[in-house]
Amino acid sequence: MRVPRWGRIAAWKWPQSVLNLYAYAIAGFFCSARELRGGFDVIAVRRAREGDCAAMGRIYVDAWQDTYPGLLPDRGLLAMSPDRHAAHWAHEISGQTAKEAFLVATMPRHGVIGLASAGPSRTRDLPFGAEVFTLYVDPNHQRHGAGRLLLENLFNAMRQAGQRSAVIWALSGNPARTFYERLGGAEVARRVRTTFGERHEEIAFGWPDLVLGDGARAAEN
Ligand SMILES: CC(C)(COP(=O)(O)OP(=O)(O)OC[C@H]1O[C@@H](n2cnc3c(N)ncnc32)[C@H](O)[C@@H]1OP(=O)(O)O)[C@@H](O)C(=O)NCCC(=O)NCCS
Repeated sequence: MRVPRWGRIAAWKWPQSVLNLYAYAIAGFFCSARELRGGFDVIAVRRAREGDCAAMGRIYVDAWQDTYPGLLPDRGLLAMSPDRHAAHWAHEISGQTAKEAFLVATMPRHGVIGLASAGPSRTRDLPFGAEVFTLYVDPNHQRHGAGRLLLENLFNAMRQAGQRSAVIWALSGNPARTFYERLGGAEVARRVRTTFGERHEEIAFGWPDLVLGDGARAAEN
């Protein structure tokens, strides 16, 4: 009997199909393993706790020493102590008021990777209710969305605290300027401050409505 053309093709392809099946199974295994690993890399933001303070002190000092060489004196940067800053954060967190927010960004495999804080503005001569005092992401984890997520959550916390606007001061040479502008902050003032015994210019970025720029991306987070 003459085997139909499709039958011959099917018979010839049978061993190959089994191989394909194995290939699909192996690929599927690795894909889901990668998705699992992706799941472990998700960044989350929550209120800071006392147990976070050691990591907060370390990240604060690492970020300063990574970002400010050339902008601030080396001797001041080198003298910074993670332990001293950890103690500072413990003091701040334990004494915080309902108008303040201390947040950390975390990743399941890395723990705390960023910190941020805000409260009523200390800059009375500018028309902004809230001020972001701190925003630092571990240099090993920058440019992966943690800064945006921290700022978005700080703004939410400030809104819940009854604020409608916010300001952030940054050294005028800080590359973070692009980050603030990218997220809708506009320069609203300049001042000169003394840090580590030297005078430096700072720029204030303002958000009159506590809404991050590039709203579509912000809403995704
Ligand atoms: C500034 C900082 C908080 C930003 O956090 P981050 O996690 O690195 O930034 P994100 O990944 O959330 O970036 C958000 C957007 O800003 C952009 N951006 C961030 N840093 C940037 C930079 N230095 N230059 C240009 N664009 C930048 C990102 O490309 C991204 O835009 P996109 O969504 O179009 O891609 C972080 O880089 C940091 O801690 N820097 C050192 C310390 C510092 O300067 N802190 C501010 C003190 S005032």
